Amino acid sequence: MRFNARYSLPISMGLALPLFVVLEQGSGLDPMLSTHEARLQEAKSLTAKFTVQRLPAAPVEYTLAYSKDGSMKIDGPDKLIVLDGKTATVLDKAKNSYTQEPMDEKTLLAKSGEDSVISWAAFFGKDRLKDAKGSKPGAKRSIKGNLVTEFTFSRNEGKQIITLYLDQKLGIARGASIKNGSDEMLIIASDLVLSDKPLDPSVFAFTPPAGATKAEPAADVITYAQVAPIFKARCVSCHSAGSPSGGLDLSSYAGVRGGGRAVVPGNSRASGVVRSMRSGTMPKSGARVPDDEIDLIAKWIDQGAKE
Ligand code: HEC
Repeated sequence: MRFNARYSLPISMGLALPLFVVLEQGSGLDPMLSTHEARLQEAKSLTAKFTVQRLPAAPVEYTLAYSKDGSMKIDGPDKLIVLDGKTATVLDKAKNSYTQEPMDEKTLLAKSGEDSVISWAAFFGKDRLKDAKGSKPGAKRSIKGNLVTEFTFSRNEGKQIITLYLDQKLGIARGASIKNGSDEMLIIASDLVLSDKPLDPSVFAFTPPAGATKAEPAADVITYAQVAPIFKARCVSCHSAGSPSGGLDLSSYAGVRGGGRAVVPGNSRASGVVRSMRSGTMPKSGARVPDDEIDLIAKWIDQGAKE
C-alpha cells in the first residue's frame, strides 16, 4: 500500500485508514479517494459555501451545513432544504410554499447524493462512489488559490463523467465537474470547513418565511412505466415472453405480475426480482444493477407494484 505523508492525517484517521484502504483495494479505489471518503466519514460536521454553474449559465450561490446526527441544510437560489433528523422540509422560494414530511436515512442519502452536492456525499455514508468506473488521478491545478488534484471517473455505464477536485490540503473534494451527455455542471466551494464537532441544532431549525404557505408533499407513486425500462435494459434479454428463463417473463406488466413470488406487491424484501438483484445473482451475466435502480424497483413494489 502506498501512502503519501503529505495528507498529514490526524492520529485517529491514521489508524482507521489502512483498514479502509485494504478493504477498498479489491474495488480499486485510489488512496486519494479513500482519504476523501475517510475524512468526510470521520468528521462530525461540514459547512460549505459553494457555487453551482450549469454551463453556459452563470454560477449561483449555495450554502450547505451537514451534521453527523443526521441533519442537513442546503440553501440555494430556488430551494431551501432542511433535514433536522426527524422532518424533511423543502421550501420553494419562488412560490413561497413549503412541504414537510417525516424523514429517515434514505431521505438523507437521497438528498446528499444529488449531483450538486455529490462531492460531499460520503459525509453521510460509505461507498457512495462504489459504482465509479475507470477512476484515475489527473492534472493538478489551482482553484481559487487552492491546489487540487483532479480525479475523474464515470458512472451509470459511462453516461455520467465526474471529475472531483480533491483539495491537497483538506484531503476532500473542493468541488466537481459533472457531465451528463452535453450538459456540464461545475461546482466549486470557496469556504469548506470540516470539524470534529457537530453543529448546534439551531442551525437546522426551520422558520417559515413571512406569508409562506404549507403544501402537501407531491405523492410520488411509482408506476410500471418507470421501472419497465430497467427490466427491459437489464433482464428482458433472458426473461422475454417468448423465452422466459426460469419461466419468468419480465417484458410486460402482466408478465412481471404473473411471476409468482418474483414480485410480491407491498413486500420488496420477499420479491425474487429485488432479492436476486441485491444479492447479485441476477442478471445472470453482465453488470450488477446499480443500487438506485434496485431501490426504484423496490419502492415500486413496496407501493403496491401499480401499473
Ligand atoms: C443472461 C441471462 C439472464 C439475465 C440477463 C437475467 N436473468 Fe434472471 N434468470 C436467468 C436464468 C437462466 C434463470 C433460471 C434460474 C437460474 O438458472 O438461475 C433466471 C431466474 C431468475 C429468477 C428466479 C430465480 C431466482 O434466482 O430468484 C428471478 C427472480 C430473476 N431471474 C430475475 C432477474 C432480473 C430481475 C433480471 C434483470 C435485472 C434478470 N433476472 C436478468 C437468466 C438471466
